[in-house]
Amino acid sequence: MTRYVIQGGKKLEGEINASGSKNASLPILAATILNNGITKLYNVPDIHDIKVMLQILKGFGCKIKRNSDKVIIDARNISKYEIPENLMREMRSSVMVVGALLGRFKKAKFSYPGGCDIGARPIDLHLKAFQNLGINIEEDSGYIECSCDKIIGTKIQLDFPSVGATENAMLTAILADGDTTIVNAAMEPEIIDLQNFLNKMGAKIIGAGTNEITIKGVPSLKDIGYKIIPDRIEAGTLLCCVAATGGTLNLKNVIPEHLAPVLDKLEECGCKLDIKQNEILLQAPKKLKAVDIKTMPYPGFPTDMQAIFSSMLQLAKGTSVIIENIFENRYKYTNELKRMGGKYKIEGRTAVVTGVRKLTGVNVNATDLRGGAAMVLAGLVAKGTTTINNIEYILRGYDNLDKKLNKLGAKIAKEEGV
Ligand code: EPZ
Repeated sequence: MTRYVIQGGKKLEGEINASGSKNASLPILAATILNNGITKLYNVPDIHDIKVMLQILKGFGCKIKRNSDKVIIDARNISKYEIPENLMREMRSSVMVVGALLGRFKKAKFSYPGGCDIGARPIDLHLKAFQNLGINIEEDSGYIECSCDKIIGTKIQLDFPSVGATENAMLTAILADGDTTIVNAAMEPEIIDLQNFLNKMGAKIIGAGTNEITIKGVPSLKDIGYKIIPDRIEAGTLLCCVAATGGTLNLKNVIPEHLAPVLDKLEECGCKLDIKQNEILLQAPKKLKAVDIKTMPYPGFPTDMQAIFSSMLQLAKGTSVIIENIFENRYKYTNELKRMGGKYKIEGRTAVVTGVRKLTGVNVNATDLRGGAAMVLAGLVAKGTTTINNIEYILRGYDNLDKKLNKLGAKIAKEEGV
């Protein structure tokens, strides 16, 4: 097991760069197998979920070269179309490879992705989109087999603007016969990045970033190089960590509009922000003000920022009300924060956070990726030493979070194999 040991109480200040986006890199890496050629990606974060995705691609026969944030995928001689169960279980978002497999091979085999720490994570919307596109789906003892003779463009009406289902439908439709329209599509920036990547490869997609995306099927794609957008959730996490300590941050290599709802709430809490084209300067107040948060699909407040933002509100003046509208079980982390002195009252999808004067460093266990980041933030402001166990959760989605925060004056030690 790996853990962080954090000495709290340091005011953070300085300048850092955000890394590339996990949630843009994963669908784009999956999409590389649609091209029977070589694809070069830049600004890919060094995180565990990317390692899992690269393992899955290797399993199909892809040749992978990685050097720092650059990844080269050679998908010329691939023939396998099954996602191993252990990798499906390790990362449920592997399901987005299915659309790319269907686009390339017209078949795919995978095990039902289990639920995870934040909810049941069903894939019914993905399967319905595949069926709309003429794909036959058979389920047998936990495995799902998808196949078809050809993929026929059609209209797909999503019951919910699911990010993954939107991405899977896009990947399946790229090489289809005819046009596909996805209605009630997710509008996240990662969807726009996927569209830009695919169009650079020769796809014909319009509408990403709106709730209606149209894809004109093309016969093939070509070799390209592409730079992944910055990670808006890592950026929001770093801003909240500095704001919680009353510090200042010059955050570079970001796209401010991608985290507009988070910046708006930081200002409501009393932070001063100077927003430039690719950087955000934050000056925190002595004492943050309580604010209310409702998570919503983009462009609403992102569910992935809910835990981190609520952790920051633990020391704010006043009471904050948080409503988690996206996932049904995204408050597990609050039990750990209560051990540090946090004052949370959970009723279903609502969390009431009462500001306290201080938090105390204790031994806590990370419960999931963003909940773990919420504990790191709490450790930065707690009195004394906070030990966070099971930080493997955090390493799934944050590229050297400890190193970035230590560069700003934090005292975080990473202890492996304890
Ligand atoms: C993506 O997950 C992100 N992951 C999540 O980030 C993010 O929280 C989520 O979108 C919402 O923004 C990646 O991009 C790899 P959804 P995804 O499908 O695609 C329900 C992180 O911390 N639903 O938009 O799985 C689902 O249960 C991760 O980086 C169905 O009911 O999210 C949930 O309640 C966590 N049926 C809601 O929709 C389906 O078929 C949103 O899920 C699919 C989803």
